[in-house]
Amino acid sequence: MHYLDNAATSWPKPEQVYQTMDQSFRSLFSPKRGTAKASRLGVNQLQQARETLAQLFNIPNAERISFTNGCTHSLNLAIQAFPWQAGDAIVISSVEHHALSRPVRKIAREKGIEFYVVPYTDANPFVLAAYEQLLQTRPNIRLVATTHASNVIGSVLPVLEIGRLARQYGKLYLLDAAQSAGVLPVDVQEFNIDLLAVPGHKSLYGPPGVGALYVGENAALNTFLEGGTGGDSGKHEMHPTLPDGFEVGTIPLPQILAMAEGVRWVQQTGLSAIHKHETELLSLLLAELREIPEVKVYGHQDVRSKTPVVSFNVLNHQPKTIGETLFDEYGIALRAGFHCAPMAHEAVGSIHLGGTVRASIGYYTQPEDIQALIKALKAILSNTLSPA
Ligand SMILES: Cc1ncc(COP(=O)(O)O)c(C=O)c1O
Repeated sequence: MHYLDNAATSWPKPEQVYQTMDQSFRSLFSPKRGTAKASRLGVNQLQQARETLAQLFNIPNAERISFTNGCTHSLNLAIQAFPWQAGDAIVISSVEHHALSRPVRKIAREKGIEFYVVPYTDANPFVLAAYEQLLQTRPNIRLVATTHASNVIGSVLPVLEIGRLARQYGKLYLLDAAQSAGVLPVDVQEFNIDLLAVPGHKSLYGPPGVGALYVGENAALNTFLEGGTGGDSGKHEMHPTLPDGFEVGTIPLPQILAMAEGVRWVQQTGLSAIHKHETELLSLLLAELREIPEVKVYGHQDVRSKTPVVSFNVLNHQPKTIGETLFDEYGIALRAGFHCAPMAHEAVGSIHLGGTVRASIGYYTQPEDIQALIKALKAILSNTLSPA
């Protein structure tokens, strides 16, 4: 199989990640639970995992990282447990994933929070002046929330500048790093990030079912899920203390340790080596697609501000049909449809077509995988163009 669906989840994982997951799953260590010694060992492992993540994202205090069930969970926590007051507002970009936009729509519906969407055009994708104008003219804005990179077109948002503007106007900044953690540098201090949501299973090369949320010194959240945290067990009420207050129920230690191992692998391999490999293949893919006149690629194609994610359509073909044919007949795994981000399809003009076909590259992608996709697209086109 040729795997080109790394924006959904990376595959395969580094061998050390599989091993860590297996060893931890077989062991008795259970942080905050179980027998004293096993629990202590589990707590130590958990602490190391927090520090590993803190290092990658330049987080000054690892205790401000809570492990979650994934990036969707982290974003819901950040948005729904934010201490909103009636009349408050939030700003988001036009390319958000449902994991961010749906909780925002929910707080708008249920708590009366206003939300502003900064418009996108291909010619002028992420206009800083539009962010600034909103921040200047709407004093009720409390949070700016954006993805770091679009999961549909791969475009990287100017997060350094957005974070700077948020700080300048005294607002908090929530970054969804689902598409950038392990792909691009993410530095909470340099980017002025107050809340950072990351998944384990994408470019941190961990397993599914785990992620993290960093809550900076300036941000305070209410509790979200209520239940046992292993601490303060004799009390009836729980408190949003970091990190335990957001790690409710039995936490998935094997997944957390495997994610941390993925982070170690990213650091050992080096972000710049990963980026170089992926960008070379991205350039190859874009160049090959440009040679097929029936293919339209969405969004800009400048690899300097793009993650290795490419959305395209094939003239007169439904994206879903292309996706299914590629998998069933050519063994190429990628995604077709809306990718849980209809706002991005509205922005780039693919919503009425049923979305796009999306190919996404990871560290284990090889030039052969790209060539297989191009060959298959040409074969599909020649089959459908040739006279019956
Ligand atoms: C930009 C973006 N945000 C959030 C998510 C949600 O991540 P997860 O499915 O790991 O919860 C995704 C997943 O594709 C994503 O691409």
